[in-house]
Amino acid sequence: ALPRDLEGVRVVISAGGTREPLDPVRYLGNRSSGKQGYALARVAAQRGAEVTLVAGHTVALPDPAGATVRHVSTALELREAMHAEAASADVVVMAAAVADFRPATRADVKIKKSDELPDPVVTLDRNPDILAELVRDRRPGQLVVGFAAETGDEQGSVLDHARVKLKRKGADLLVVNAVGDGKAFETEDNSGWLLAADGTERSIPLGAKAQLASTVWDAVVGLIKR
Ligand code: C5P
Repeated sequence: ALPRDLEGVRVVISAGGTREPLDPVRYLGNRSSGKQGYALARVAAQRGAEVTLVAGHTVALPDPAGATVRHVSTALELREAMHAEAASADVVVMAAAVADFRPATRADVKIKKSDELPDPVVTLDRNPDILAELVRDRRPGQLVVGFAAETGDEQGSVLDHARVKLKRKGADLLVVNAVGDGKAFETEDNSGWLLAADGTERSIPLGAKAQLASTVWDAVVGLIKR
């Protein structure tokens, strides 16, 4: 049995991907399955937390037992829901894959192809960084947890990038997943690192997404108790 060490703690978790509409039938989306965020919600509820899940699009996952679920579609809807829920939360976790950009305009009718007219060009507007906003607006004592999907490159390793991102976003904890080569996205297992604002770093071995969720909640419990 899991410890009931999140009893009395109100947590809000975002999960899944956003869809940014182009017209009534088309959207820009991403490959997020929602599985990691749903596992976080399920495990938190099992450990006694009061859980609200703000769910974007997933691979048709069932609502996790014991959680209140709010379904959203676009980044701007997810932002609204997260700000409203975070106002009364002790812990906020941004596990959703939020689109960085949305089409600047949404056509009222289906965009047509035409031999007379030029092919359409899509202009994108930047979406707000919801995690950064939640950090900015946080209540005293509220913990904010972010996720980062990183690849290594000539500029540095996955961890180098993640350390910079933790500082820039100002979160208390950052869960870092190495991505690329079929890792993390759309899979059952996950691995990575957990970086804390105090400089603590631990690696998370490859395991079920529920296992990674437990590691995150262990760290949260440690920070709440201090
Ligand atoms: O900067 P990057 O997209 O890698 O950061 C990932 C983290 O930021 C995740 O926690 C994700 O949920 C969050 N995010 C956000 N708003 C965005 C983009 C990402 O809250 N527009």
